Amino acid sequence: MTIDLRSDTVTKPTPGMREAMARAEVGDDVYGEDPTVNRLQERVAELLGVEAALYVPSGSMANQIALAVNTRHGDDVIIGEGGHNWLYESGAGAALSGCQFTFAGSGGLFTGDDVRRAAKPDNHHHAPTRLVCIENTHNRAGGRIWPEADVRGVLDAARALGLRAHLDGARLWNVAVATGRRERDLAAGFDTISVCLSKGLGAPVGSLICGSKDDMWRAHRFRKMFGGAMRQAGILAAAGLYALEHQRARLADDHANARRLAERLGAAAPDTNIVMVDTASEADAVVARARAEGVLANAVGPRRIRLVTHLDVDAKACDRAADILARQAR
Ligand SMILES: Cc1ncc(COP(=O)(O)O)c(C=O)c1O
Repeated sequence: MTIDLRSDTVTKPTPGMREAMARAEVGDDVYGEDPTVNRLQERVAELLGVEAALYVPSGSMANQIALAVNTRHGDDVIIGEGGHNWLYESGAGAALSGCQFTFAGSGGLFTGDDVRRAAKPDNHHHAPTRLVCIENTHNRAGGRIWPEADVRGVLDAARALGLRAHLDGARLWNVAVATGRRERDLAAGFDTISVCLSKGLGAPVGSLICGSKDDMWRAHRFRKMFGGAMRQAGILAAAGLYALEHQRARLADDHANARRLAERLGAAAPDTNIVMVDTASEADAVVARARAEGVLANAVGPRRIRLVTHLDVDAKACDRAADILARQAR
């Protein structure tokens, strides 16, 4: 059987989740009449300690709505290297919201001092900086958890400079499980937060953009503008509610499996569920050879592959994948 370690987005809905989806009460969510979507939005707002949450089809749309809510055309956005809403969203920040991006720090994570260095003033020479985005965990940095002091430093700098702050928390659930901290504490101080149900939590679809009632009122309009308003979406939201209830605590298993993989492959110990492995031969060739033996991985650099653990790979599968990769990565 194939062991797919390309991403935690490859999971299939579990039997219990499919049952919850089949039983979901639904209505037309464009009229705000889908009870299951409404319940999901209330539950996520409560978990994140914010006034409101809005269900959207994808993490990319949640991030793009955040850019639209927090900026105006011609504004500058500070982001860490490899940030998803800069690197992997098809240039949407420029195309839809007219933003330009400036990197802070290196490797994805950064500090308050980095924000102060990167910020541009609001005068006629510059694209004025309006927003700082952080990603926690950081995907390209290997599922890294932001040190709490750096989050506070960035938020303090943002406040002092009059900037807004967005948290891409696609995998914030992993941070909460790994650190024992509540999602609401991890999200405190941000104006907008995006979270995903379709990564480690295992739902087939769905993310939420979260924040104040006023900002979510505007987010609602951008969701419509970007084509993300759905009708009987309760069938999908039911999967998200099920995932939050039944598949959140088990993220600890993914973290343990990732550590196991890293140990066997001599890679750096991961913070969460993403392992970066440096390969002796070319990463593309390693990926092709591993595929021929039934292990799927992604190349993320000329000599680097990424392995992501999730609910469809157990410890035994990880051990088998590690044996194959250890041979093929030479
Ligand atoms: C950190 C991060 N943010 C946002 C997204 C976008 O999510 P989606 O694939 O649902 O658009 C991803 C996807 O992997 C991600 O890793």
